Amino acid sequence: MINNHIIINDVGPRDGLQNQLKVLSCEQRLALISALVKAKVPEIEIGAFVSPKSVPAMAGTSELCAKLPSSNSVFSALIPNMKGFEMALAAGVPLMSLVVATSNTMNLKNIRMTTDESVKVSEEVLKAAKTRGANVQAYVATAWACPFEGKIDQDSVFDVTEKLLNAGASSIVVADTIGAANPLAVNQLMNAMAERFDIKQLSCHFHDTRAMGLANVYAAIEAGVRKFDASIAGLGGCPFAPGASGNVATEDVVMMVEQMGYSTGINMPLLIKAADLAIELTGTATGGKAKSWIEQYNLN
Ligand code: COA
Ligand code: ZN
Repeated sequence: MINNHIIINDVGPRDGLQNQLKVLSCEQRLALISALVKAKVPEIEIGAFVSPKSVPAMAGTSELCAKLPSSNSVFSALIPNMKGFEMALAAGVPLMSLVVATSNTMNLKNIRMTTDESVKVSEEVLKAAKTRGANVQAYVATAWACPFEGKIDQDSVFDVTEKLLNAGASSIVVADTIGAANPLAVNQLMNAMAERFDIKQLSCHFHDTRAMGLANVYAAIEAGVRKFDASIAGLGGCPFAPGASGNVATEDVVMMVEQMGYSTGINMPLLIKAADLAIELTGTATGGKAKSWIEQYNLN
């Protein structure tokens, strides 16, 4: 049976805000999260437990967690290591996301460990998560290409994914950190992943650096993927990956998949309000294309 439901995880409050020159206050971050909650976005990445020296915009995620609105949305946060895990656990985050880049250079720049070292650290975190009842998933970053090492061999993606799943990661987010993928490459990798792993444990994360984000989402849907990261108003980028621009805009992904007959459970008018807020708060987000379409034609 074809699964017609698509789960959206909005990463705007983390991937989106981490790269902004303007650091938002806790209240502003909360306002953005609340707007996404109101729009019924099922999953929201609310922040990161990382070094405030490395990523000043994510400082204070523990304080933010204490003020999160009650909601049906699943909140997640990024953790790079055991310290991040302990902090996220103490803050009561229901879902944590480890991050391992397939290339050594990207991994060293991002979290100061080689890929092997960060797989080992992630295995330790996943072991601790098992005994302490925490739900931890993992990003496999630079899955198509690395800004420093170029094209990534599929075997490295399989290898890291296998190790993280075996260690107990609840799911794997296959991430195109710099927007290097194209629809054919997405289809090839995700089909190959689906042969090796349970597709229900896989999701995709695309940056729209070259306007291929939506095409890549479609290619992944064709390969059976039903869960996607996206970022409200197309916010996003990695401070450690030169040239990485925003994620594919949540409102555009929702508009595309709903027109194609998939359900997301998201309220589009309220999602557009959240996009307006993201633009207002950051002053840099451009917003997706869905808003002007809706305003001009009001067609579903
Ligand atoms: N959260 C907050 N602080 C942390 C931390 C975490 N998860 N892990 C380590 N630290 C602190 C240490 O306590 C130490 O603090 P001190 O200088 O006050 O003593 C300092 O950071 C250095 O610790 P160390 O273990 O040597 O870390 P490092 O300097 O090798 O940096 C990371 C490693 C992972 C903490 C850092 O590179 C980082 O935060 N990267 C995040 C990258 C990111 O968010 N990228 C975007 C998302 S993909
Ligand atoms: Zn990203």
